[in-house]
Amino acid sequence: MARRKYVVGNWKMNGLAAAMGEAEAIFAAAKGHAAVDVAICPPFTLIGAMAAAQPGAAVGGQDCHSAASGAYTGSVAAPMLADAGATLVIVGHSERREGCGESDADVQAKAEAALGAGLSVILCVGEPREVRESGGAIDYVLAQVAGSVPADFGADRLAIAYEPIWAIGTGLVPTVADVEAMHGAIRDALAARFNDKAQAMRILYGGSVNGENAAELLGAADVDGALVGGASLTAGKFVPIVAAAAALG
Ligand code: 13P
Repeated sequence: MARRKYVVGNWKMNGLAAAMGEAEAIFAAAKGHAAVDVAICPPFTLIGAMAAAQPGAAVGGQDCHSAASGAYTGSVAAPMLADAGATLVIVGHSERREGCGESDADVQAKAEAALGAGLSVILCVGEPREVRESGGAIDYVLAQVAGSVPADFGADRLAIAYEPIWAIGTGLVPTVADVEAMHGAIRDALAARFNDKAQAMRILYGGSVNGENAAELLGAADVDGALVGGASLTAGKFVPIVAAAAALG
């Protein structure tokens, strides 16, 4: 089944108001590649302004709390993201699983909260280096998928992002064969649990994607897009990735 390519920028903790021009340039260029879905997830502080400045563009959060409101100092709830103009949110990024101690159950609860608030979800999974080196990467990631993907969602509302931790920000990328093996295993696991819906779900690759390697990674079997960190911060680096996705149709 044909799945639309999806290229998402995760700005992480980068971006002051001065960076809004980059988003404007990215979304302007994306209009020329209508076959590709493009989104930017800036820091919380820029979501409202970016969504207001870019009507119709997909602007998202990088995390949300699982509760709709309450005494959770410093946290942001999914309905708040939607209220600010976000249409999607990343949950389960390794920098939160590892840095903030988020479990699969936490990630699943966040995904459920986001879906309930009307947001689309990009749910991240990925193995640490020692797990890859020991040969256990697929089992590790499938356990994350089993533990963190919610039971009920529309296929167009939840994408998985496979991000091997050792490939994030390092310039290292897995071989295409390893990416295809992982994405195929994830899709098989989704099919076993969700039947036909799995064919419509998008599975993104993330970790050191750039303008040079995007065509090869995005052209791999079962790779439906990219979740991009460092190379999403400027139009000059991000737009070539969008263009590579568009060239693949
Ligand atoms: P880099 O593209 O900087 O490796 O980051 C990937 C990532 O973590 C996106 O969520």
